Amino acid sequence: MKFFIDTANLDEIREAHDLGLLAGVTTNPSLVAKEKGVSFHDRLKEITSLVPGSVSAEVIALDAEGMIKEGRELAAIAPNITVKVPMTPDGLKAVHAFSKEGIKTNVTLIFNANQALLAARAGATYVSPFLGRLDDIGQNGLDLISTISEIFAIHGIETEIIAASIRHPLHVTEAALRGAHIATIPYKVLMGLTKHPLTDKGIEAFLNDWNSRTEA
Ligand code: E4P
Repeated sequence: MKFFIDTANLDEIREAHDLGLLAGVTTNPSLVAKEKGVSFHDRLKEITSLVPGSVSAEVIALDAEGMIKEGRELAAIAPNITVKVPMTPDGLKAVHAFSKEGIKTNVTLIFNANQALLAARAGATYVSPFLGRLDDIGQNGLDLISTISEIFAIHGIETEIIAASIRHPLHVTEAALRGAHIATIPYKVLMGLTKHPLTDKGIEAFLNDWNSRTEA
């Protein structure tokens, strides 16, 4: 499983990138709105030049024609832009048009397996099932990853599954086990994955021992 970061914040992206494991970035309108006073296009330019992998940028239009127009503009910003499209009938039409033009797509707001299958068949590069938001309403988000993963394997579908709406480390481990190709993770959760209290304790003990050594 590869790691994307789920943010539009440049400092967070820079820090995650410096870890050497970042394969891409996902943004959404809510994440972009948190970045006050920043032009969406300028920010996308900065992100795409920093991270060579896929950078998802979401369309705002709700009709297929509007999505296609916006998506083409976004795709023109950099070759590594992936156009993020909501899972609706119009979204599927737009995804199909983009796939014929060689523009990569990420179908977002996926909450069941049929939506994922439809998106894949329309030509989506990625589908994004939202784990945390399903958990929030008492449905098992991780089970959805398993189901989509199984269906895609049975039918030889190459669309990649991005485990999205990740809230905690267990989501990450389980998403990997259940066949997600990618997890897109908020900065705080990503950095939290590096930590274990025994690692900190071990470092402290090694340093204490080192500092108390006597040399011959
Ligand atoms: C994915 O691409 C979305 O940006 C994101 O994971 C949504 O997560 P949330 O449910 O925490 O807003």
